[in-house]
Amino acid sequence: MTVAAAAREAKPNGGSPPVLEVSNLVTRFATPEGEVCAVNDVSFAVAEGEAVGIVGESGSGKSQIFMSVMGLLASNGTASGSVRYRGAELLGLPTRLLNKIRGARMSMIFQDPMTSLNPYLKVSKQMTEVLVYHQKMGEAEALRRAVDMLDLVRIPEARRRIGMYPHEFSGGMRQRVMIAMALLCQPDLLIADEPTTALDVTVQAQIIDLLRDIKAELNTAIIMITHDLGVIAGISDRVLVMYAGRIVERGGVVDIFHDPQHPYTEGLLNSMPRIDSALVEDELISIPGQPPNLQSLPGGCSFEPRCRYRIDRCTLEAPELREIAGGRAKACHREALTPQAAVRA
Ligand SMILES: Nc1ncnc2c1ncn2[C@@H]1O[C@H](COP(=O)(O)OP(=O)(O)O)[C@@H](O)[C@H]1O
Ligand SMILES: [Mg+2]
Repeated sequence: MTVAAAAREAKPNGGSPPVLEVSNLVTRFATPEGEVCAVNDVSFAVAEGEAVGIVGESGSGKSQIFMSVMGLLASNGTASGSVRYRGAELLGLPTRLLNKIRGARMSMIFQDPMTSLNPYLKVSKQMTEVLVYHQKMGEAEALRRAVDMLDLVRIPEARRRIGMYPHEFSGGMRQRVMIAMALLCQPDLLIADEPTTALDVTVQAQIIDLLRDIKAELNTAIIMITHDLGVIAGISDRVLVMYAGRIVERGGVVDIFHDPQHPYTEGLLNSMPRIDSALVEDELISIPGQPPNLQSLPGGCSFEPRCRYRIDRCTLEAPELREIAGGRAKACHREALTPQAAVRA
């Protein structure tokens, strides 16, 4: 089935395929020092209108999953497995066909809007170009739609500001412009890669509120990628926790926060300041040790050297991601993470 046919056939709910389905994705980079195993057998699906959070330390493979999905890997990278948009395979699709989907059906925003915005072009030009290219709109109609989008992302005086250059906007406003651009063609999936990391806390909260409203108003599925669990809490229905290129835990956002089942998730939570916790900042416990070298991953569990629940089996055998109660999954040999189960405090 062609991608266009898949998009036409997919109806809201009613047994249509997920908006995005990633199966057994493996992403490798060739380097002079050896092969970097950035993404290691990752599978997940995102349903229509759903918000999925992807969390993990820097270098855990979060961005490269979506660079693979969007066909934007660096030239030394290769991806294998399967990436389906509404049932149609994207991996290996020629750029010409991929361009019909990227930016139109699925769009991606990044931490630094200046990497995506052209500093030499007025925002109006950058926005209308997208509509002229993807939707064959005339200039006047495209400009009207672009102003409407800036209104939607709550940029004051949109009609005037659309004539400005990117550097004339503040960091938060620039990120709003990026979100407006990403939404121009009404995509059904918005991938946000650390969109608030460069912003101060107040502006960060405003952008998360905005994305939550967009999801509610437009039913856009949102993937929120971040190293910060706090960002995930504000917007996700479900969470995937990544470690060393693998999903180590998957579950509903409330479960992940209140009853983490993987030692790494527990470690992330313990190292995060929380309003509802009696712990003060200097009592926060960071996870000891460092993430593994992705050029020589251990044969057993990648988290084993840092894990306080480790048992002999962990060094011998890498745990598969397996279903546990409550529609959750974890990649850990241990059943329960009780204080008694810890092998060193
Ligand atoms: N072009 C490349 N060549 C070699 N290694 C790369 C390349 N791009 C990314 N990597 C490596 O892939 C791993 C995962 O990166 P990434 O997905 O960007 O992590 P993050 O979770 O911080 O988004 C990192 O170790 C990174 O150094
Ligand atoms: Mg990243």
